[in-house]
Amino acid sequence: MKLSKSIITGGAGFIGSNLTDHLVRIGHKVIILDNFVSGKKSNLSHHKRKNVKIFKTDISKSKNLDRYFKGADYVFHLAGLAEIIPSIKNPKKYFVNNVLGTVNVLEAAKKVKIKKFIYAASSSCYGTPKKIPTSEKEKIDLKHPYALTKFMGEELVMKYASLFRMPNISFRFFNVYGPRLNTSGQYSAVMGNFLSQTKNKKPLTIVGNGKQTRDFIHVDDLANAFIKVIKSKLIKKIYNLGSGKRTSINTIAKIFGGKRKFIPLRPGEPKNSLANISKLKKDINWKPKISIEKGIKKLLQN
Ligand SMILES: NC(=O)c1ccc[n+]([C@@H]2O[C@H](COP(=O)([O-])OP(=O)(O)OC[C@H]3O[C@@H](n4cnc5c(N)ncnc54)[C@H](O)[C@@H]3O)[C@@H](O)[C@H]2O)c1
Repeated sequence: MKLSKSIITGGAGFIGSNLTDHLVRIGHKVIILDNFVSGKKSNLSHHKRKNVKIFKTDISKSKNLDRYFKGADYVFHLAGLAEIIPSIKNPKKYFVNNVLGTVNVLEAAKKVKIKKFIYAASSSCYGTPKKIPTSEKEKIDLKHPYALTKFMGEELVMKYASLFRMPNISFRFFNVYGPRLNTSGQYSAVMGNFLSQTKNKKPLTIVGNGKQTRDFIHVDDLANAFIKVIKSKLIKKIYNLGSGKRTSINTIAKIFGGKRKFIPLRPGEPKNSLANISKLKKDINWKPKISIEKGIKKLLQN
């Protein structure tokens, strides 16, 4: 029997490397395309070369992505730059990576008969949503170049689905966390910050008064949704991908424990963010299983 071949762009990053683990577990051969701008080889070092092949390539530059896509069954396009403040400082870089990069990946995938193309979009497309929980029908409100470029990528993915009948699905991720979370960057997200602060015995930095809430989804729940979707007949769909539960930053800090330090609010960040996930739950019969308490406990054990 021929094994399924999956391409993961950005596969050396946090979400991509976790997805790799799940796909290898179900018997896929995985091809990683990554330029290692934030991804790390060590995120994948536990895999055997016969299961996971890693290629260093920049999706925004490479004119020759086609050769990697030969015989591909599934494409998971996760490569991208993913920080808000750097995107405001350098919009062009974000445009080249996230928009041009997405066109290049779509062009390569278009030429082969893939079964599913999955795109990593972002809940940042809702800006400051009027309705909480927020459904996929909420108004698009792009507050910064990161949100704009991720949304342009999604629009391209949907246009390619219509124009070229590609089996494309876009997932708008909420706050994803889990093993190998990015903890290094100056602008890493709250969970990553808390994790590195806990490990370095530093106080947890809380933005604003900490009463703002976020929807945190464990990366294993996210990967399970991906696997259910690739087995389905669904195409040309956009789904929120969150836990459907809201947690305040103060609650997260409490679960981590230790001292806290309050820092000023940052631009473009909503007070509350919560996914309405009924569409995805209904379409693939999936639900998130890992509670925030259990997820953080697992994180602290690593
Ligand atoms: N983590 C979250 O909570 C979250 C939320 C919303 C959306 N997303 C999206 O999910 C995707 C994965 O996020 P992550 O948290 O794993 O981030 P990450 O930074 O760990 O992973 C991104 C990966 O893409 C690679 N990459 C970036 N530009 C590239 C290029 N031009 N060519 C090849 N590789 C490139 C990086 O080296 C890295 O390995 C991103 O597209 C991000 O926008 C993440």
